[in-house]
Amino acid sequence: MKAFGQSDPAVAQYALELFKPEDEVLLQTRENADARGLPPIQLGPFDVRHLEVLVRMLQAKKAVEIGTLGGYSGISIARALGAGGKLHTFELEPHHAEVARQAFDQARLVAEVVVHVGPALENLPQIASEAPFDLVFIDADKVNYPNYLKWAIDHVRVGGAIIGDNTFAWGQIGKTFGFEDGREKSVMALREFNQMLATNPRFRSTILPTSEGLTVGVKIS
Ligand code: DHB
Ligand code: MG
Repeated sequence: MKAFGQSDPAVAQYALELFKPEDEVLLQTRENADARGLPPIQLGPFDVRHLEVLVRMLQAKKAVEIGTLGGYSGISIARALGAGGKLHTFELEPHHAEVARQAFDQARLVAEVVVHVGPALENLPQIASEAPFDLVFIDADKVNYPNYLKWAIDHVRVGGAIIGDNTFAWGQIGKTFGFEDGREKSVMALREFNQMLATNPRFRSTILPTSEGLTVGVKIS
């Protein structure tokens, strides 16, 4: 049986040098977010490239992101949406949202980006009239992943996709007890999230072996 993923540093180095997933705009976005005190928990450079390519393959025009942080992943989604595209991105922290808005401005995106500030579960109903969406990307507080997923399942179109980050739960996703770092609630929620996407007959799903785990489900009916 072939391995699930691989972590040979020489392969990673080769891929980074060839594909150069982090351009100047993304680098500045990441460094600026760091300088302004945001936690350095955005996607990795390759994961954000994976995201852009997946969203381009979807030919998405209408997307939702839950968990904006400094706008790093949002820039890649908006790039993939292109002209005539619209991204609604939801962020709990006003400071993060302000940093992200500036990042979106500086990235000279042609897609429209709307940053919603506050608890996503309270604000998501505001965009229901624009559903169905081509993509919902979930990368926010882990305990609410099942709740975000329920919303996403109902608001993504057939042929569209739901993508969730961190679905390896910091390497703890295979555990059912003995969680480290007080992450029990988060790990259990991520397990529920993966189970919902793995078993929902309206979705065909997989979990991509990125460093953090990226669950991808396509709505098939
Ligand atoms: C954490 C959250 C993330 O979304 C991530 O990509 C990495 C870490 C965290 O809460 O620790
Ligand atoms: Mg994440």
